[in-house]
Amino acid sequence: MNAYRARLLRFDAHRPAQALFDDDGLLVVGTDANGLQRVLDAGAHADVAPRWPGVAVHDWRPWLIAPGFIDTHVHMPQLDVIGSPADGLLPWLEHYTFPEESRFADPAHAGEVAQAFVAELLRHGTTTALCFGTSHVASVDALMQAAQAQGMRLIGGKSLQDRHSPPALTDDTEGSLIDTENLIARWHNQGRLGYAITPRFAPSCSPAQLRGAGELAARHPSVWVQSHVAENTDEIAWAQALFPKSRSYLGVYDDFGLLRPRSVYAHCIHLDDADRALMHQRGAAAAVCPTSNLFLGSGFFDFGRAQAADMAHALASDIGGGTHLSAFATMLAAYHVGRVALPQRPGMGLAPQQLWWLHTAGAAQALGLGDAVGHLTVGSEADFVAINPAATPLLARRTQRASNLNELLFALIVLGDDRAIARTVVNGQVVATTQLATQAAAMAR
Ligand code: GUN
Ligand code: ZN
Repeated sequence: MNAYRARLLRFDAHRPAQALFDDDGLLVVGTDANGLQRVLDAGAHADVAPRWPGVAVHDWRPWLIAPGFIDTHVHMPQLDVIGSPADGLLPWLEHYTFPEESRFADPAHAGEVAQAFVAELLRHGTTTALCFGTSHVASVDALMQAAQAQGMRLIGGKSLQDRHSPPALTDDTEGSLIDTENLIARWHNQGRLGYAITPRFAPSCSPAQLRGAGELAARHPSVWVQSHVAENTDEIAWAQALFPKSRSYLGVYDDFGLLRPRSVYAHCIHLDDADRALMHQRGAAAAVCPTSNLFLGSGFFDFGRAQAADMAHALASDIGGGTHLSAFATMLAAYHVGRVALPQRPGMGLAPQQLWWLHTAGAAQALGLGDAVGHLTVGSEADFVAINPAATPLLARRTQRASNLNELLFALIVLGDDRAIARTVVNGQVVATTQLATQAAAMAR
């Protein structure tokens, strides 16, 4: 059993966007019957400490302990294409992303990138992620092994793409579905790992492949589904030309049984109200990727209409279309986008606690993991970060001036980056520290 004394940020899993905060808090963590580390108690130090006499206390003041960040859409094999500029999504895929992903036929390359990817997620304070691999089975094995070695909660899947892809990425319709079924058996619910059926996007999948994916999704309801939708106007026109009978691009996925709880669709920018209502009705969720949408010029997610339709949504990096693995950068980009796309609150944008919720407790809920992670309520899994509000000279100056929680969170969102993640704790174990990161960087030189 361990206790951590620090500033403490938590969420009540049932009250969206309203944080619980203790300026001097205590988080008590211990092992359950299955060997998982869980939160045993949390709250003000003065209230909690007397209930746990003799427990070892790590004094982490003046850091801020908060739930680990949750990335609801990220591509492991795109770690090394971050910041590759293109006119838009389709040329970006063709010129940078597909050539890089083709290299993952080599298990050694997949293993090296997967390990670096998981290390980077953890170093940035991300403790749960829903990830794409490539179309190669080896990429998913490498990703799962890297996450498993760190005890991390990670959901991943092999990209399904049996057409309109370069030969090195094009999979075989029948074989891809058999591979998916085998990967589910191998990785789904192995410890903290989960599997996601992963049709890349409708234009890259034949009707037969989408049908097969939908059948697998029906047969394995606890498995996730992840894909892309309504990201870019050229992509949308292409999808609609390929599937003229579907009501909309989103409708293609629905027609093949791929909209259901635990289905997570990246982007969802150019949806109409009927699409949003359908997302809500099916219990599917949108992964909002603001840095990617700004970088690739895809458009602005409409937070106002998503809220009005009660469409589940949460934040995501979408590396490598996205520019940052840091949740701070993603929250800041979401704030900027909210400024232009929140019609019912013109000019106000999203509040800092709401942004934070969308990357922690709200993201857990969107993934169907609301009971497990994202909020640090008693009984939840012990995945958290310790944030150093004085990690840089400027952060130190600015956070010192913060006179309430919103000001503190906003200063971190605007000025924070990976340097502010002092510790990342996964299943009660410290898996990343600023010190370890500095040592690793020195060794790489
Ligand atoms: N649509 C299909 N594949 C991709 C991808 O790799 N990234 C993004 N952003 N959109 C896609
Ligand atoms: Zn993506």
